[in-house]
Formats: sequence, C-alpha cells, structure tokens
Amino acid sequence: MTQDGVRAVNIDTSKPHPARIYDYLLGGKDNYEVDQLAGDELAAAAPEVRIGVRANRAFLQRAVRHVVRSGVRQILDIGTGLPTSPNVHEVAQEVAPDVRVAYVDNDPIVAAHGNALLSRSGRTSIVLGDLRDPASVLGHPEVRKILDFGQPVALLLVAVLHFLTDAERPGEIVATLRDALPAGSWLVLSHATADFADRSAAQAVYNKATASLSPRTHAEIERFFDGFELVEPGLAQVPFWRPDGPPPPRSGEIGFYGGVARKDS
Ligand SMILES: C[S@@+](CC[C@H](N)C(=O)[O-])C[C@H]1O[C@@H](n2cnc3c(N)ncnc32)[C@H](O)[C@@H]1O
Repeated sequence: MTQDGVRAVNIDTSKPHPARIYDYLLGGKDNYEVDQLAGDELAAAAPEVRIGVRANRAFLQRAVRHVVRSGVRQILDIGTGLPTSPNVHEVAQEVAPDVRVAYVDNDPIVAAHGNALLSRSGRTSIVLGDLRDPASVLGHPEVRKILDFGQPVALLLVAVLHFLTDAERPGEIVATLRDALPAGSWLVLSHATADFADRSAAQAVYNKATASLSPRTHAEIERFFDGFELVEPGLAQVPFWRPDGPPPPRSGEIGFYGGVARKDS
C-alpha cells in the first residue's frame, strides 16, 4: 500500500490511458504527463471536449437518480473510470441508502484507486474485469457477492462501448449482459459519436493510447438498446437527456449520446 492507501500497481506511464485522459479532462489528479498531453491534443481537436465529459458525467448522475427512483436497488457499472465525486454509489445511495453497486473496469489503476475509496462499505465493490469478456464479469465472485441477478439490476455502460471496435462485437456483448438481467432491469448507456463533428483527430489521439476510439452513429448506438424500451426522450445528446438546468455552452456540438431503457420481459 502507498501512503494514501492505494495498492501498488504496475502503472504504465508510457502510453495514455482512457481512464486517466478522462480524469484529466474532468480536472482530476489521477493522471500522468502522457495523459495530460493526450487530453490537451483532444481539446485542441475538439474544443468542446471538456464541456462534453462534464455533460456526460452529469447525464450519468441524472440517469442513476432516475433508475433508483424507479425502484432498482442494484447497479453493475462497467467502465467505471477513476473515482470522481460524486461517484455512482454516492448518487444512488443519496436516493436510497440500501443500493448496492458493483464497479468493473479493466484498468488496474482504476481498481486500485477504487479499492482505496470503496473498501470501507459492504454495499460496494470494485473488480478488475473486461467488458469484452462479459461471462467473466457476470460470473465474478465479487460481483455475485454484491448483486443478486434474480432481482432487477441497472447496467451502466457509460462512455465505455466506444472503446470496443466493431470486430470486438459490442452488440453481442451487450446482448449477453442483457440476457443475464431479469425483467425490470435497466440499461444506462452513453457513447461517443461523430454525428456533429469530424472525430478523426480525436481518434488519432486514442490510436496512441491503450484503447482506440470508435465513434458510432445514432442508429448504431440505438441498436445497443435492442430488447430494452428507451424512456423519453430516447437516445439524445447527453445535455438534452432530461436536463435539470440550462444546457452548457456548445451543447449542440457535444459528441456523446446517452439513453436510459428498461427491460420489460
Ligand atoms: C471515459 S471513462 C468513463 C467513466 C465513467 N463510466 C463515466 O462515464 O464517467 C471509460 C472507462 O472505461 C474503461 N474501459 C475501457 N475499456 C474497457 C473494457 N474493455 N472493459 C472494462 N472497462 C473498460 C476505462 O479504463 C475507463 O475507466
């Protein structure tokens, strides 16, 4: 353990990591020079990106409040990201203190920081797992300890599916996860898009990172919701999904769609 309780992990600082780039863009401190340079390159290519990541985070919070107010008490958050206040369990437990959250990320640094933050609560857990192997995520003993798949679960895939290429068959992965969820479960999903601006410069930045970026169109992203019923307003640019205040500047350029959907049967 280090002084702040973070378990020592092999941290690769030779390449930018999506979790750390995102943390940098959000104004966090859990990032390195390579991530900062990548974040600055992204901001040069897409000047609205910092507003976009904050709007994505705000969407996540509104969506979590919505599903918890609708009655769900279990959350599986895959592609958690580095701890960012308020975290999903904090938002959810403010609405209902008995909500349980299993966090999953494939970046060891996320798991290490998450462990330091979460281990004190028996209602949350963080595991190192890969979305590309949904069966292992679903079968992970720590996930099974926190979540009961006989009861509704809110599955969060927020700003993570765009790190999977088409060859990695993201649609089949989402379907595998969906089939493990009982009726009354939810899907909260956001995803990068190039529908509003060319994203090739942003893709070039991620090509140098540990995961490439695959922006998708509205129609392509909507297909991830097959087998779920999208609630109003459907799949929308994140600032326009049930806003609780005026939209941030440049909202029309923000390259993230978000949606929330229920599994009825
Ligand atoms: C942009 S951050 C999103 C964080 C959080 N969901 C949010 O929206 O605020 C993407 C996260 O997904 C994680 N990630 C990327 N590919 C993944 C994979 N194949 N399996 C699990 N996590 C992954 C990254 O490590 C990173 O922490």
